Amino acid sequence: PLVTSEKIMLRAQKEGYAVGAFNVENMEMVQAVIEAAEEMRAPVLLQTTPSTVRYAGLEVYYASIAALAKKATVPIAVHLDHGESFDLVVRAIRAGYTSVMIDGSHGSFEENIELTKRVVAVAAPNEIPVEAELGKIGGKEDDLDGGDGGGYTDPEKAKEFAERTGISSLAVAIGTAHGIYSGIPKLDVERLKAIRKIVEIPLVLHGASGLLDKDVVECISEGICKVNFATELRIAFSDGVKSVLSEKPDTFDPKAYGKAGRERVKELVKNRMTVCGCTGKY
Ligand code: 13P
Ligand code: ZN
Ligand code: NA
Repeated sequence: PLVTSEKIMLRAQKEGYAVGAFNVENMEMVQAVIEAAEEMRAPVLLQTTPSTVRYAGLEVYYASIAALAKKATVPIAVHLDHGESFDLVVRAIRAGYTSVMIDGSHGSFEENIELTKRVVAVAAPNEIPVEAELGKIGGKEDDLDGGDGGGYTDPEKAKEFAERTGISSLAVAIGTAHGIYSGIPKLDVERLKAIRKIVEIPLVLHGASGLLDKDVVECISEGICKVNFATELRIAFSDGVKSVLSEKPDTFDPKAYGKAGRERVKELVKNRMTVCGCTGKY
């Protein structure tokens, strides 16, 4: 069924695993993620960024995810990823999204708190959990450039931020970046532990494409309850499409290459769910 993200994340936190959160762009990716979740008996979040929302609209993503989620037997949440404004968050909630992120990490600490508080004030009465971000996650997410990834999350500030805003989960900056890494990133696990020690709400890891499985597993054992995967899914889908079009360049049925893209995404998602430890839970 379609659920909010809070219960599945709190259960993951209690039981020491992470829920996979997968960015989707089209119907085939929605199908792939939900089929993977059903087969793996895993809870899952499907999420869209502002640029994806601009591509097809909140209503289309919500409707396609909800249609499949309602028939599914595992819990599925529809999440707005990196919500860039109060207005977009409100529109997502109105469209039926069951979870939202407000990304105020590009403003000052106080600006981030103010924006996040305003979002929590509209989301809470609708029982929609809010994820926020403190610190700067590197790389380019959408149109927002996080730069070189400087500005890791300060544990004391994270505690203050969580308490003052009333958010349900917090995205932390500990050395990950959006997109594919040029080298192997060194994650600041000590910082994650320090945050975990004083921040009680579920913590979120962004930028998981390109991380070593063992690093993801270590972060989960130190308190991460949601792991975001985006770029890898885009690559998998495109690789599937390209494989068909390069082998048979005169293909004109979108179903033929759409199916190939969908299969690649599904395999990838099943693999990442296994890394997150969230399989066989429902
Ligand atoms: P990647 O593109 O590195 O997987 O990052 C995903 C993410 O953090 C989406 O919010
Ligand atoms: Zn992100
Ligand atoms: Na990444």
